[in-house]
This record gives sequence, structure tokens and C-alpha cells, in this order.
Amino acid sequence: MNPSMTMSPAEQIVQEDLDSIAHDAGDEFTALSGRHLVVAGGAGFLGYYLVQAPLHWNRRNPARPPIRVSVLDNFIRGVPAWLTALAVDENLRLVRHDITNPLPADLGDIDYFVHGASIASPIYYRRYPIETMDANVNGLRLILDYCVTQKSAGRPVSGVLFYSSSEIYGDPTPENIPTPETYRGNVSCTGPRACYDESKRYGETLCVNFAKQHGVPIKVARPFNNYGPGLKITDGRVIPDFARNILDGADIIMLSDGSAQRTFCYVADAVTGYFKVLVRGGAGEAYNIGVETPEISVNELAARAAALGKELFGYAGKVVRKESADKDYVVDNPYRRCPIIIKARSELGYAPAVTIDEGLRRSLLWYSGNREASEA
Ligand SMILES: NC(=O)c1ccc[n+]([C@@H]2O[C@H](COP(=O)([O-])OP(=O)(O)OC[C@H]3O[C@@H](n4cnc5c(N)ncnc54)[C@H](O)[C@@H]3O)[C@@H](O)[C@H]2O)c1
Repeated sequence: MNPSMTMSPAEQIVQEDLDSIAHDAGDEFTALSGRHLVVAGGAGFLGYYLVQAPLHWNRRNPARPPIRVSVLDNFIRGVPAWLTALAVDENLRLVRHDITNPLPADLGDIDYFVHGASIASPIYYRRYPIETMDANVNGLRLILDYCVTQKSAGRPVSGVLFYSSSEIYGDPTPENIPTPETYRGNVSCTGPRACYDESKRYGETLCVNFAKQHGVPIKVARPFNNYGPGLKITDGRVIPDFARNILDGADIIMLSDGSAQRTFCYVADAVTGYFKVLVRGGAGEAYNIGVETPEISVNELAARAAALGKELFGYAGKVVRKESADKDYVVDNPYRRCPIIIKARSELGYAPAVTIDEGLRRSLLWYSGNREASEA
């Protein structure tokens, strides 16, 4: 029997996404073949595909030397079931490790390093502001120092990816939307989001200078509103919140006036982009990773999600407005966010293809099979 016939719709979505990442980042996985990739923060949302995609590529390419993957994570938000289930894979190693401590001595030489160990959800980083700063500044510094040591020892790291954020642009002025990498930002250094925004900014400065001064091959990705499988239904970001309402058959709760505008990038496209940044990106260079269109309001996003919910599950709810219990929910929240991605397109061959409706449909199907998420 065709194995896809025994899969749930949610499992099918994941398999299709992994196939598309393995295909679209095929050259990058070939470069990683036989090498040791470390993913710090691999238990999080982006880790879901960052970790699964190379293991999937190994299974699809049994004649090639496998990519060995180590996940370092302090599991501050719990150990996800999908990661525990993967532990049987002989090419995966899970290590409980806080990135603000020196790297574990028994890890072996690292060829490629992805630093995504930082809480990305505003609700959670405001709960852990100092930890968020430490992970992006002190944690990054330890990784960069490791790279310098390895280079001196004649065992240089081939590539490092630091996750910055579109938040480094703050609330861009209208003439800087859509936003290119050259925009310097409009950011508060003391507001409720500053722990995140400013530590990402300082992190980028560290990257540029370690690239220049020590030749560390560190590259920077600036993600713009990624969503999709792996993003826990309890995360507090807007798409999983709407998905939960829809799957519960409840009204969609709008915690803002819904006028803020965003472009939303489906995670399979984004993760393909991240592997391209890691392998092909220029040292000390930053790349916007997102999509240019359509830029839609959160109200429109809710309407599209509700319409898809109706089509998929017979959803009949409406959108209702409520005040958030969190008084900082929308403080310093950028009004518009939309990237220019010409640099990633032309230098890396990044080519996001999943439309917003298709991405939302895939997300809702994935959430229908992943309605529970443990939260530490
Ligand atoms: N998802 C997005 O749209 C987006 C947007 C902008 C930036 N980013 C950045 O991408 C990276 C990954 O984002 P995500 O959405 O997967 O975040 P996430 O919050 O879902 O996952 C982060 C992971 O890092 C781990 N972690 C946090 N602090 C750690 C520490 N000190 N040591 C070890 N592990 C630690 C957490 O346990 C978690 O598993 C982050 O750096 C984030 O800032 C993501």
C-alpha cells in the first residue's frame, strides 16, 4: 500500500513540505552531506523543519554520506513530542544545553552551526527578557569564540547562521516599507520589545566584526513573520491563535484593532532560505527571508483563515474584538512589516513559492492533527 494512504492529513503536509525543502535546498544538503550540523534552539518552531529536513534528505539519499545533526536546546519551553520521537534516528543527537554556557566538550568538531536559540514569541520573550538577551549576545559570542579557536586549531567551521529578526527594523517609517537590508531601523532601546530587538541588533554587530576581524563565516538571516507546521498552537502568535479558535469551533478573538499589516512567509519556503543563507551566504552579510506579497491586515488574515476553516471543517464562527490581558500586547508593535528580498533572490537563489491561502490551508490541516502542545 502507498504509505501516504495511511498518513493523516497533518502527516501528509509534513512529508510534502520535507520533500519540497529537500528538493529546493538540494545543493545545500549536498554541501552538508557527511558533515556535522549543530542546531541550537532546534526544539523550537523553526527547529521543526531545520532538524527534520536534513534527516529526511538522508533517508531520501541513502547512497550519500549522511548529514549528522546535533540539537542543543535548554528546553525552556518543554521537550516537544516530535523531537523525542526522532531520537531513534542514528544521525541525530539531542543535548540539553543552555547556549549561554560554553559548548559541550564532547560534541566533536562542528562543520555547520545554526544559532536559533532564542525565544521568538513576544509573549514569551517578555516573560524571559534577560534570558533572551543573554542567548542572543553571550550565547552568540561563545559560538563565535569557538569558531576562532577551531580556525586556529586547523579545523575551521564551514558556515554559521545567526538568526536575527525583521524586528531589528523596529517600526519602519513609511518610505522604508517595503524594507531593504540597508534600512537602519526605528527601534526603541527601552520598550517592552527592546530585549529582543536590541539583542538581535548587537548580535548582528558581533557577526559583522567577527567576520571582518577573524574571518568567521557567519551569516545572518532576518526572518519576516514565518508561520506553519511546528509553530505550537499555544505559541501566542496570531496564526496559531486563530487556528485554535477555528478548531474549537469558537469565534476568532482579535486582540488588536486588526489594522496592522504583514506579509506572511510559509515555513517550508523560509527554511529552504535558511539553508541557502547558511551554505551560500556571504560572511558578515544579512538577508531578509520572507515574502514580498501580499501585504495584508490582521483583519484580512482572520477573514481568510475563517473562510478556509469553513471550507475544510465547516467552521461557522465570526471575528470578535477583545482587549488582551497583556497590557504590552501591541506596544511598539510595528504597524507595517514587509521585506524586500532581492538580495536573497539574486545572491542565494531563494524563491518562496507558497501562497498565503495555500500556506494557511496547510497550517490549518497541520493544526487539526496537532491540537495539543505542552508548554513549560
Ligand atoms: N519564527 C519567526 O517568524 C522568527 C522571526 C524572527 C526571528 N526568529 C528567530 O529565529 C530563531 C528561532 O525562532 P523560533 O520561532 O523557532 O523560536 P522558538 O521560540 O519557537 O524556539 C526557540 C528555541 O530556542 C530554545 N532556547 C531559548 N533560549 C535558549 C538557550 N539559552 N539555550 C538553548 N536553547 C534555548 C527554546 O527552548 C526553543 O526550543 C530565534 O532566534 C528567533 O529569534 C524567528
